[in-house]
Amino acid sequence: MNVRILKDEKAVARAVAARVIATLAAKPTAVLGLPTGRTPVQFYARLRAEYAAGRVDFAQATTFNLDEFLGLSGDHPASYRAFMETHLFEHVNLPRRRIHFLNGVASDPVAECARYEAAIRRAGGIDLQILGIGSNGHIGFNEPGPGLIGDSHPARLAPGTRRSNADLFDGRVQAVPPNALSMGVGTILRSRAIVLVATGVGKAGVIKATVEGLVTTRVPASLLQLHGDVEVFLDGAAASKLLRH
Ligand code: F6R
Repeated sequence: MNVRILKDEKAVARAVAARVIATLAAKPTAVLGLPTGRTPVQFYARLRAEYAAGRVDFAQATTFNLDEFLGLSGDHPASYRAFMETHLFEHVNLPRRRIHFLNGVASDPVAECARYEAAIRRAGGIDLQILGIGSNGHIGFNEPGPGLIGDSHPARLAPGTRRSNADLFDGRVQAVPPNALSMGVGTILRSRAIVLVATGVGKAGVIKATVEGLVTTRVPASLLQLHGDVEVFLDGAAASKLLRH
């Protein structure tokens, strides 16, 4: 993995935005895989600013988000779709028909995941997948366990994951849906290039395990070691436990 340590969260956001801009400049029809969460908030702000300044064009781009809560429709204010509308989609010229999301209220969640995999394949696969990381090592909603599921699938959220999403539900952990739909680790690893982003000292331990530890389903992000084109963008705090950097 190619680790890049930057001064602070703002510099990380700038670097990740620059990576997306370069991808779209080289291939205007690029397919982007996108995360939600606290980590990418500044990155999306930066992309909005770059778009407003005319430095990036989404007119031919396609996006697939990583995950969505099961039981929430895209217009629910706590949905990840709503997050993406607020932080990016409402502000840029990404055509609506090329924004893709797992439908959290699909009547058949398993069929919905199969539909999503087929849509990714039809789009030609993901060119650049941006990822955050849970402090337990999850990517998407692939939580640590004795095994992992390759393709998109319904996933049960770890208790800590529900706690860290409580802010979206006015701080009420019980209101966070216990299940989600998520790309699988195979879906993620089939992306042509992957950027993993982490900031803050709270992620330092899991970043060490991801980058320097064994490849294990107990730290799902460690499977990224198996991919040939992964960049890890960190601030100094998230990188603070790495020995080799
Ligand atoms: C969100 C997602 C999650 C988050 C992870 C980190 O779409 O797939 O894996 O990236 O939980 O979340 P933050 O950035 O809030 O620490």
